[in-house]
Amino acid sequence: MNLSNKYGKWAIVTGASSGIGKEFAFYLAREKMNLILISRRNKNELAKQLKEQYGTEIISLDLDLSIPENLEIIKEEIEERDIGILINNAGFSKVGNFVKNDINTYMEMINLNCTAPVYLTHITLEKMLNKKRGAIIFLGSLLAYQPAPYMSVYSATKSFDLTFGLSLYSELKKQGIDILVINPGSTKTEFHQIAGSSGGFFQRRADDVVRTAMKSLGKKPTAVDGIINKILVTGGRIIPVKLSLAITEKIARLIYVKN
Ligand SMILES: NC(=O)c1ccc[n+]([C@@H]2O[C@H](COP(=O)([O-])OP(=O)(O)OC[C@H]3O[C@@H](n4cnc5c(N)ncnc54)[C@H](OP(=O)(O)O)[C@@H]3O)[C@@H](O)[C@H]2O)c1
Repeated sequence: MNLSNKYGKWAIVTGASSGIGKEFAFYLAREKMNLILISRRNKNELAKQLKEQYGTEIISLDLDLSIPENLEIIKEEIEERDIGILINNAGFSKVGNFVKNDINTYMEMINLNCTAPVYLTHITLEKMLNKKRGAIIFLGSLLAYQPAPYMSVYSATKSFDLTFGLSLYSELKKQGIDILVINPGSTKTEFHQIAGSSGGFFQRRADDVVRTAMKSLGKKPTAVDGIINKILVTGGRIIPVKLSLAITEKIARLIYVKN
């Protein structure tokens, strides 16, 4: 059974213009899902390519998801559609000393990484529960498990996504809704350039993350992409918090903070 038959005809992908979100769009189009692609940049070229290659219907919304009023536009757009999958993917980070970064950047980050997923999950779940089927994927991070000096607000937003997703998993698991929080480690996308970080040593690819997510959906509540990343999460959980923070601070200063 393909995803369209299992969950419903339409999938929403936020942050579809690059990186992991774009890979999700290709994966879902191959599965014959119609797509609502949301991000700020114009996606006409991407929509054309997906239509030509896979024959799926594409709606492209060029919206800033950090502006709460824009979320209502999406509500109108999905009203009449059979939404099967929601991928809460759009997100960004900004590296640096907490106080030195602009407070408005943090407000935007919280809106995009936390407020938008809560809103979109609420409006799509209402529809999914009526037909007793659907799937929602959240993008967590290794930093959802590990408080990250110099990325303090970002790691807090990702912990929010992890906690929110896992809580919904147990609330909804008997009602036909599959929830997954996929946690990538450092992945080669535009993310690091925007964050102002180097990206570190062991980078995975965006399609690795999507494969891990789609393999895990419906089987477990959460997954970490990549074996090294799994070891890092496990290691971070068994050593004392003070030691773990001291190590992370040193590594973060070396890897993430360029100057
Ligand atoms: N790459 C990593 O190492 C890594 C690691 C762990 C977790 N993640 C998570 O993975 C997710 C995807 O990131 P990525 O690595 O694919 O980064 P990316 O290549 O920078 O993609 C981010 C996507 O989010 C969209 N976006 C950013 N700000 C937006 C806004 N205000 N409104 C609407 N869309 C917005 C961007 O599109 P526009 O610019 O067109 O708006 C883009 O499509 C994020 O949630 C991130 O936290 C990434």
